[in-house]
Amino acid sequence: MTKHYRITLLPGDGIGSEIIAIAVDVLKTIAKQLDIEFIFQEALIGGSAIDATGEPLPAETLEQCRHSDAVLLAAIGGYKWDDLPNAMRPEAGLLGIRAGMGLFANLRPATILPQLVDASSLKREIVEGVDIMVVRELTGGVYFGKPKGIFETEPGEKRGVNTMAYTESEVERIGRVGFETARKRGGKLCSVDKSNVLDVSQLWRDRIIKLAPEYPDVELSHLYVDNAAMQLLRWPKQFDTIVTGNLFGDILSDAAAMLTGSIGMLPSACLGTSGPGLFEPVHGSAPDIAGQDKANPLAQVLSAAMMLRYGLDEPAAADRIEQAVQQVLDAGYRTGDIMSEGMKLVGCREMGDALIERLESSK
Ligand code: IPM
Ligand code: MG
Repeated sequence: MTKHYRITLLPGDGIGSEIIAIAVDVLKTIAKQLDIEFIFQEALIGGSAIDATGEPLPAETLEQCRHSDAVLLAAIGGYKWDDLPNAMRPEAGLLGIRAGMGLFANLRPATILPQLVDASSLKREIVEGVDIMVVRELTGGVYFGKPKGIFETEPGEKRGVNTMAYTESEVERIGRVGFETARKRGGKLCSVDKSNVLDVSQLWRDRIIKLAPEYPDVELSHLYVDNAAMQLLRWPKQFDTIVTGNLFGDILSDAAAMLTGSIGMLPSACLGTSGPGLFEPVHGSAPDIAGQDKANPLAQVLSAAMMLRYGLDEPAAADRIEQAVQQVLDAGYRTGDIMSEGMKLVGCREMGDALIERLESSK
């Protein structure tokens, strides 16, 4: 029997529409092979939503996403909207959809593909074999804490305020995702905080330690965030799964991503307790190369694979996509961001065609 999935597509801004088109083609190809039907519906978010409706996250978009089986997002943002106040910027749309859909857990894998070891800015022996999963808390911490704002405390003197806060239950629920993720991977969990300075981090660490006895098979360690940043560059292979708060996770996941050579390769999953998940590349909207057929669509395509694996429970379909990505890389196809000597430089579209060809011939 054919399975039907309703997928909301959020192309967003910049290179978004180019890369999401490739992911849609890939999904359509897979669907034919595995007796799946995807019903795609596009919606507005980010700068394109601001231009069309005046808001970065129109209410209809959030409604539609909530009623889908999964959401595939490309990227948001661009120079055009940089001067707007924070609450009206494209980024507010992204934060709004994360909060509005209750997507508190952000899974960001940083896995180095053997074909791309030389694309890393670090030495081969440091990065070869790196396979890290960053589990980032996504709907709390300093991104959402109150009070927040810019206040004029005395005439002529403004004060900018954000609040880094976590409740025990927020730490517990992301902590559990961390332990469970580690359990399915290498069995090691490193919790990252700044508990030598921040009270919120002290609570974080205490709560994580309290959870540990429930996961005796997982080896738990702790690092301060500054040390974690250093260790990621010094010897990344010591890490298996990292669990951390919203801001630290934002920063560390970019650093981990760069170990793999290009942020253009990395997908991510945003999950809640129930309801649809949202899947998006870790990279941004790259306005400098938008519309030029230069973008690397692989992070978007791998996000579609994560959608199949974590959102729709279709691991066989996810495997096929991941395999096709390996095959195009083996065949030497490279977009500009991962180009190296002797490889075949292709644009976004041609990379997509190469993927489809591999998928079609591996039925
Ligand atoms: C990310 C991005 C976002 C974040 C921005 C665009 C709001 O950097 O997804 O990592 O800070 O979470
Ligand atoms: Mg970021």
